[in-house]
Amino acid sequence: MYQSKITGLGYYVPDNVVTNEDLSKIMDTNDEWIVERTGIHERRHIVKGQDTTTTMGVKAAKIAIERAGIAKDDIDFIVFATISPEYYFPGPGVLVQRDLGLKTIGALDVRNQCSGFIYALSVADQFIKTGMYKNILVIGSEVQSPGLDMTTRGRSVSVIFGDGAGAAILSRSETANSGILSTHLHAEGVHAEELSVVAPGMGKRWVTDIIRDNDPEDLSYFPHMNGQLVFKNAVVRFNEVIQEALEANQLSVEDIDMLIPHQANLRISQFIQSKLRLSDDRVFNNIQKYGNTTAASIPIALTEAWEAGKIKPGDLVVLAAFGSGFTWASALIRW
Ligand code: UT7
Repeated sequence: MYQSKITGLGYYVPDNVVTNEDLSKIMDTNDEWIVERTGIHERRHIVKGQDTTTTMGVKAAKIAIERAGIAKDDIDFIVFATISPEYYFPGPGVLVQRDLGLKTIGALDVRNQCSGFIYALSVADQFIKTGMYKNILVIGSEVQSPGLDMTTRGRSVSVIFGDGAGAAILSRSETANSGILSTHLHAEGVHAEELSVVAPGMGKRWVTDIIRDNDPEDLSYFPHMNGQLVFKNAVVRFNEVIQEALEANQLSVEDIDMLIPHQANLRISQFIQSKLRLSDDRVFNNIQKYGNTTAASIPIALTEAWEAGKIKPGDLVVLAAFGSGFTWASALIRW
């Protein structure tokens, strides 16, 4: 069986920096509350007409392709993770395929929220390990800012999320015990609505209902988050899924060189770090600059950590995520 290996990484974030101070001018919030509860100092928001989920994903992908040292026509398949596609359908996978001019290769959209990038990586890993494909472009990209309630009413959610994109090239390798060692995927749909956007959808609130009611108090199309329930589940599931990955490979916490947690909340990352007793140099966080970018957060953080020389060949890297669904996941990588 083949191995799959990350051979190129890239990220792109919009230029528009939105600080906590900027938010405090449009809603009742303040830097102290946001930093204390989330660790976030600023995030990026797109400017309409400049960036979309796809264009950001394409920019990140071009960097990853160049770093992988492959031609774009060497890519066999695209897996795109997002909760914020520009169209209801089709998903952004085919838009990337078109914008990169990738002939007629297949494009798959993954919608597993904050766990989306690891789910996408896992799908790509299976295609490579079975020998079906040699090079797969995996993207996580989010434009969340236009969908947030940027008033005091929505402050507990809107201060957290940001926009950005990250991409990886996953390639076939024949070196045993290297590259992606294993991935672990979980879900608990009983909590589906606890972190959700339920409208417009074909269930509770149809587009036609929203148009008919024209109700300014209708909040169903803004994200709803039961923050405390998410927090409590996140700290348990992050730890569980990291331990599961280590056990599956007969490794232990001492073997971890770098943990890249999904950037949900700095307090969640710090809780996991202290639970696992990892020193500061073995965990990478950048939520302070970008907020929570959902499916984009892991590839952005992974790229920044790699660019900073914090990930070296032979290192054991753990990716772990938790989010809406609830879904959670991990990936263990021998770099
Ligand atoms: O990838 C998964 C993504 N989601 C997460 O990881 C979220 C996990 N949960 C959390 O991070 C936390 O629950 C939050 C940071 C979202 C909220 O922190 P909390 O300690 O659970 O606060 P809370 O929602 O219980 O609100 C506490 C107070 C409330 O005021 P009162 O009722 O005590 O007077 C809120 O109205 O803080 C108020 N509040 C704010 N104040 C200033 C809520 N949001 C804000 C805000 N600025 N942005």
